[in-house]
Amino acid sequence: MSEIKTAIVTGANRGIGIETVRQLAARGIQVIATARSFEQTAALQAMAKEGLPVLVELVDISSSASVAAFAERVLQEFSAVDILINNAGVALDKWVPALGLDIDVWRQTMEVNLYGTLRMCQAFVPSMQAAGYGRIVNVSSELGSLTDIQMGSSLAYRSSKTALNSLTALLACELKNYPDILVNASCPGWVKTELGGEDAPLTPAQGADTTVWLATLPSGSASGGLYRERAVWPW
Ligand SMILES: NC(=O)c1ccc[n+]([C@@H]2O[C@H](COP(=O)([O-])OP(=O)(O)OC[C@H]3O[C@@H](n4cnc5c(N)ncnc54)[C@H](OP(=O)(O)O)[C@@H]3O)[C@@H](O)[C@H]2O)c1
Repeated sequence: MSEIKTAIVTGANRGIGIETVRQLAARGIQVIATARSFEQTAALQAMAKEGLPVLVELVDISSSASVAAFAERVLQEFSAVDILINNAGVALDKWVPALGLDIDVWRQTMEVNLYGTLRMCQAFVPSMQAAGYGRIVNVSSELGSLTDIQMGSSLAYRSSKTALNSLTALLACELKNYPDILVNASCPGWVKTELGGEDAPLTPAQGADTTVWLATLPSGSASGGLYRERAVWPW
């Protein structure tokens, strides 16, 4: 395997995603930073112009065709992807009570947060299996944790993250025979982004920290966990 690692980050054009790209690229990792349209990628293009190893690509993870075309382009250029960060996400039912939830909104949320992540794993994990190396980080949320539910609302978003946690744990089990492929989920905390809102106390750079830490774990580290602030968080 080459010394230079390759990472994909979805939803990389803003928020926590773009900070994740910046932190990985600063470590010399070749980042394939994805957005849904080139018009949204000026900040990523600027990083590449500064000399950071950032390559901009397009993918809409809610579309199987878009993920397939993206995977074909990437795997033609890079034989394997070392790190997959499933960061893209939507929160379409903030504070909506379950009894008032439009089921189409729940479907749209699952399409991105859960099925989109699975599509990306299905597209890229086989190349990790072939290489015998991989770090998969699914960006989850403490709001998906079932251990400490203190308030109702946001069922679509929260259940999509609960299911994402389940995907993380099950995929880690399925990859047990590949000891150097680690699958973990991260909780960024409450972060000031379009999704998190203006009142959030954390910066996007702080929100990206645990994800980047999981993405760069050394061989022999744990797999199949949920982490916040670099520590295990209850499912
Ligand atoms: N902010 C928080 O407080 C917080 C807390 C816990 C967890 N998280 C999680 O952290 C991750 C990043 O959130 P953020 O706060 O940075 O949100 P954000 O600023 O709203 O960014 C979301 C990103 O996801 C992309 N995206 C949405 N739908 C997509 C699709 N179908 N295909 C590809 N990309 C898509 C967006 O692209 P467009 O620009 O094209 O829409 C954008 O780049 C999410 O998974 C979120 O659930 C955030």
